[in-house]
Amino acid sequence: AEGDRNYLISLFRTIPGFPAKNILFRDFVPVLADARAYALLINALAQALPVSLDDFDYIGGLESRGFLIGAPLALKLGKGFIPFRKAGKLPPEVYHQEYTLEYGKAAIEIEKNTIHKGDRVLIVDDLIATGGTAAAAEDLLKQAGAHVAGYSFVMELDGLPGRRALGDHPISVLMGMPA
Ligand code: PRP
Ligand code: MG
Repeated sequence: AEGDRNYLISLFRTIPGFPAKNILFRDFVPVLADARAYALLINALAQALPVSLDDFDYIGGLESRGFLIGAPLALKLGKGFIPFRKAGKLPPEVYHQEYTLEYGKAAIEIEKNTIHKGDRVLIVDDLIATGGTAAAAEDLLKQAGAHVAGYSFVMELDGLPGRRALGDHPISVLMGMPA
């Protein structure tokens, strides 16, 4: 298992200076092209769930990179998958939530008819940096009267406010990374 973990980690890349100067870009995309590593990643997420299977109804994946891990995880766990999309991609009617990025603003949306009052959603994404995207996902669910059950991330950037933006929800992270 130690060998598996080292093999998986060996396929993560770090690109200094992208997408902006002084940023260390953490890239898990090479994992996807490697069938063994992709399966190891999804298995690791399934084993590190922040809540039990009975405590959530859906997996919610955050476009785009959250789709690449959230959808296979949902299939593996026998849960439905809800895409949290960047604004303007889903047909009406949608819930719409703006949030602040390090530079500028963004917005995400979910379809009103895919989510209902009382639904509990495990939010999945590749990375938590400022936590702005993940917090916006909770604001979207609140609009529907639905709830965050917890958060699963592959990577956390150390030293960024990240999880402080997420209240006291259960969170699992596979690996911490210097920012
Ligand atoms: C990246 C990453 C997370 C988010 C983390 O997505 O995949 O979703 O930023 O940052 P935060 O914690 O500061 O909100 P990005 O918006 O670059 O888009 P992508 O997933 O489509 O590549
Ligand atoms: Mg993303």
